[in-house]
Amino acid sequence: MGSEGRGGSQYSRGNDRAYTSGLDGLCAHRARRARDIGPGRAVPIRVMNEDFTLYRGESGAPKVLAFRCAHRGTQLSTGWVEGEDLRCFYHGWKYDASGQCIEQPAEPEPFCQKIRIRSYPTEEYLGLIFAYFGEGDPPPMVSFHHATT
Ligand code: FES
Repeated sequence: MGSEGRGGSQYSRGNDRAYTSGLDGLCAHRARRARDIGPGRAVPIRVMNEDFTLYRGESGAPKVLAFRCAHRGTQLSTGWVEGEDLRCFYHGWKYDASGQCIEQPAEPEPFCQKIRIRSYPTEEYLGLIFAYFGEGDPPPMVSFHHATT
């Protein structure tokens, strides 16, 4: 594992490992190797025994949302990436990167503005994707100036 986990707690499950950076508090976790997910893809991830949805918008920017759709609880990683948003596989509710529902195509009277799922600040750095699961704004990522991205 090298020195990445030094000073932080470590958790592992199968091939996914998540651990605190040890540098910026208790809640920034490595969520995935960046090369494991390409633009326009969504995957389920598990961090500290909790499930989430990691996806890359078509721009390539990684984002982390709640694991399930607010409608009927479908696993969101089975849906489709559309631009920078994620559409649920089941009835097509669409969420933006903030977790705000922005489309409900089958609802006769859409109420998107009332629906929002959790979203988590996400950043890619040095070939890893980090997400912040704490409250409030995330602390700035520590930059290793000698490292290349
Ligand atoms: S379960 Fe997601 S839109 Fe219905």
